[in-house]
Amino acid sequence: MSSHISQDRHGWPAALGVGAAGGLRFDGVDLGELARERGTPLWAISRATIEANWRALDDAFRERWPRHEIAYSMKTNDVLAVVALLHGLGARLDCSGAYELEAAARAGVPSSDVILNGAGKSEQALTLAARRGVRQVNVDSPDEARRLDRIAGAEGTRVPCTVRVVLGHERLLARDPSYERSQRAADKHGSDRLSGQALEAIEAVAGSRNLDFVGLHHHVVFPGYLSDYTPDRALAQHGESARELCELANEARRRFGVTVDRLDVGGGVRAGGELLVAPPGAPEQSAWHRLPTAVAFADAVCGAIEEFLEQDALPLVQLESGAHMVWDAVVLLAAVSELKDAARRDEPRRRYVYLDASTMMFMSRGGMRMGHPVVPVARPLADADSDWPVDLVGQTCMADTIAEGLALPRLEPGEVVALLHQGAYCETLSTQVNSIPRPEVVLLDDGTVTVVRRRETLDDVHARDSVPAALLAGRSASGGPPEIDSPA
Ligand SMILES: Cc1ncc(COP(=O)(O)O)c(C=O)c1O
Repeated sequence: MSSHISQDRHGWPAALGVGAAGGLRFDGVDLGELARERGTPLWAISRATIEANWRALDDAFRERWPRHEIAYSMKTNDVLAVVALLHGLGARLDCSGAYELEAAARAGVPSSDVILNGAGKSEQALTLAARRGVRQVNVDSPDEARRLDRIAGAEGTRVPCTVRVVLGHERLLARDPSYERSQRAADKHGSDRLSGQALEAIEAVAGSRNLDFVGLHHHVVFPGYLSDYTPDRALAQHGESARELCELANEARRRFGVTVDRLDVGGGVRAGGELLVAPPGAPEQSAWHRLPTAVAFADAVCGAIEEFLEQDALPLVQLESGAHMVWDAVVLLAAVSELKDAARRDEPRRRYVYLDASTMMFMSRGGMRMGHPVVPVARPLADADSDWPVDLVGQTCMADTIAEGLALPRLEPGEVVALLHQGAYCETLSTQVNSIPRPEVVLLDDGTVTVVRRRETLDDVHARDSVPAALLAGRSASGGPPEIDSPA
């Protein structure tokens, strides 16, 4: 059976534990009580876990490299309290597009701490970036450099820019052709090195009137999303990407006389702990992986820069880290609504456990192959008591398998389970299919609970709708408050 269960404490962050009464606790809060008080489904964020994740990466790079900074990549989890917490710890912010730039301000992050990313950036995004004075724009293409130069001129300001690069990865590909898959996914972002487009973009920035060329940028897509994950492969990809960025920097210096003051090595780091990769529909492929340490990532990146960058001045090493900061800092509490034993004639017996949550609330499962380990909150360490595989399924009418082929204790209707590793690319990629409102989000902090995003209501889901009167001829739309918004 598959390995989504977590009774053996696989993948538990340090703040997750078992209380004296035997129930699951997270950041000092009893999760069973929390579910009773606040209802389910519910996302619970652990402040201590985010802080520990931040410290691990920040300390590792500080030890290894005198000049570094980490930007939190807001798309990963855009709860403003999370953004404010990480900014308070010292993070800058990686924003994609105008809306995130605006949202950053709502979390108290000044534009001077924002790195603007994004492919095909809108005029609005570039104008805001120039007008408000962002820390830097990671320019995607030669055309974008020309557009931004024009906009900065019109705004009467100068904009610091790195050039985002699509790397060739020839050495990695020679070693392992399957790298191709993970690379292609990111090809639309940035200027291609092998064709010379990246040099063209560097020249466009360096030769512009209103932009300052400050360095180069490349984002490594986390290999677990797209191909078979191994810790060695992850480290090799980061080391090799840093090396190739340095080689491009050397070439740009020779050709245009520019110096790279900032090397932005993007995201794709998940360090420390154990991660469940679980492609949907293929329980036999789901596997736990011990992640490399933050120190190993720092060594891979900084070692390559030390060895291959041919300039005297030490560049600022920038990271744009999303998933690492939050992935294990959030659990989704969900209640069992129903059980069904399916016994098809030609197939082995199987039990469906229906939850009041759904994979539509966390597309990380279907789209990104991430597994979400399951722990019953009232008896987290209980043994499985069925030989049958259990499928945990969601409440929507879509293919909605939360976890399959599990060996679990027999769950009862009303029983609450915690789905772990819900911090990264879950709510930000969620849908409201079947008009289902999204869960409340609470921040746990050493025994205290604060609502940081209220539960969505049916009114929120349909807030943009209006039904033309002619379509209602002879009928009336119910305008009263719905009876189902408060959680069961
Ligand atoms: C430009 C950029 N930087 C950083 C990140 C964050 O990546 P991760 O969550 O793997 O750290 C992303 C994610 O897509 C990205 O596109």
